[in-house]
Amino acid sequence: MRFIGNRSSGRLGIELARASAARGLATRLLLGPVGHDPELPGVELVRFRTTDDLHALLREHAPQADLVIMAAAVSDYRPKRMVQTAPQKLTRDEAGLTLELESTPDLLAELGRNRRAGQTLVGFALEPAERLLSSARAKLKRKGVDYLVANPLETMDSGHIDATLLSRFSDATDSTDAPISKEAFASWLLNRVLHQT
Ligand code: CTP
Repeated sequence: MRFIGNRSSGRLGIELARASAARGLATRLLLGPVGHDPELPGVELVRFRTTDDLHALLREHAPQADLVIMAAAVSDYRPKRMVQTAPQKLTRDEAGLTLELESTPDLLAELGRNRRAGQTLVGFALEPAERLLSSARAKLKRKGVDYLVANPLETMDSGHIDATLLSRFSDATDSTDAPISKEAFASWLLNRVLHQT
């Protein structure tokens, strides 16, 4: 009934999976709680609800993947385990309610630590425009990924994406120059991360 999470439509992950399958790549989409199952021919769709669910799915599936793209808007905090499930429906209380939150594990950083040779790892970062590149460069290193897609906070909730791609192979960056549709972005990104390793 009530949950804590990051707002996300899942649209980017869906478009990436569609573009990947269209290239004939064996594709698995781990999709969070974002409505109905999308129609995705050639994609193995696996649904999950919580960060813990995604964590378990990544442990199961990531080791075999040649390319892992973490477009998931993983929640940074969750209610502490002891209060996750109330024994009964909580009734409204004028005094209010205090929830204790704990950090979720950084799933992408764990993938970075366990990355096997030949596996390509791509992360995303939503950053304020004025420190987009510096924050994204630090995140690329901290999480141990090959590529990081940085988006300005201002494009949140938009159907379009204004992306800058950073890579651990080079100090140069690559940008979409103008906001492009998520469908166009999916091909733009695959063109870059599939051919540069
Ligand atoms: N991510 C993850 N596990 C988390 C949080 C985020 O795997 N618990 C992944 C996201 O899927 C994304 C990347 O990490 O690919 C960056 O997410 P972002 O929220 O920008 O980074 P944070 O580590 O949460 O840093 P910040 O403090 O800037 O929010």
